[in-house]
Amino acid sequence: MGRFEGRKVLVTGGARGQGRNHALRFAREGADVAVIDSVAGEIETVPYPIAEPEDLDRTVELIEAEGRSALAEVADVRSAEQMDGAVARIAERFGRIDVLVVNAGICTFGPIESMDRDLWQTMIDVNLTGAFNSVRPVVPLMLEHGFGRIVATSSMAGRAGWENIGHYAASKWGLIGMVKSLALEVADRGVTANVICPSSVNTPMMHNDSSYRLFRPDLENPTMEDALPAFQSVNVLPVPYAETDDISDAVLFLASEEARYITGATLSPSTGVNARNV
Ligand SMILES: NC(=O)c1ccc[n+]([C@@H]2O[C@H](COP(=O)([O-])OP(=O)(O)OC[C@H]3O[C@@H](n4cnc5c(N)ncnc54)[C@H](O)[C@@H]3O)[C@@H](O)[C@H]2O)c1
Repeated sequence: MGRFEGRKVLVTGGARGQGRNHALRFAREGADVAVIDSVAGEIETVPYPIAEPEDLDRTVELIEAEGRSALAEVADVRSAEQMDGAVARIAERFGRIDVLVVNAGICTFGPIESMDRDLWQTMIDVNLTGAFNSVRPVVPLMLEHGFGRIVATSSMAGRAGWENIGHYAASKWGLIGMVKSLALEVADRGVTANVICPSSVNTPMMHNDSSYRLFRPDLENPTMEDALPAFQSVNVLPVPYAETDDISDAVLFLASEEARYITGATLSPSTGVNARNV
């Protein structure tokens, strides 16, 4: 019997990447899983494509192939109205939401000194306000049932400063502040809230020209091969990046019974980068 037999799980940003993998891993361990994603193809200021509708369809197919129920909702985490509607429809179909994985996010690039205000604002809107918009409608449902597990995805950039992604770092530090506060507010009513902080993970967010340029500012058009040694040099363990399963292991642990007495924590599946930070 899986650790999440009968549980109802909601993953934001579940169309691809880490979110899709978390969704599949929960399904494999017995959960029914709902995924929310904007599947907009692109977001202004983001220099790489985000998920497409076919990606969300594929996640649903993969969850169902595990023999579990899947629900998919198209919503932009920046919109409180869209998120409230999507969560209400999922809660109606599933009856409750036991686990929420706050995973949707973007990464853009630029130094603070010349940062376009739109670049700043879109980052905060998606990664921070989007996380609030995800948590806000779910927490009352969890409190009503006296049970809930919330796991939010921050970053190693939420534990240190990081050149050329200061707005991303600000959004990810902010997320930790929100989740720790939430953990205090709901601890006596059956709900835990924790954060994971990965460093580089093998997903489309990492594999794109802008990300390669962040790691190889010395080259005009760096390739993946150029960037890999630079990815690795940031890490302490001798690998360029973690795989999505490495991150899912941490997410599922924090959502599991084994972590029942852990709340307000940050867990860093970060290939050791955390050894240099708080
Ligand atoms: N990949 C990395 O190296 C890395 C490292 C640390 C933390 N993270 C964090 O992990 C999380 C998952 O990222 P990933 O690596 O899977 O990248 P990804 O780009 O593959 O996936 C992100 C998902 O979020 C969705 N999304 C983006 N903006 C959205 C919006 N406004 N509304 C709804 N959905 C939206 C995308 O469509 C996509 O499906 C993000 O929060 C990211 O910041 C990633």
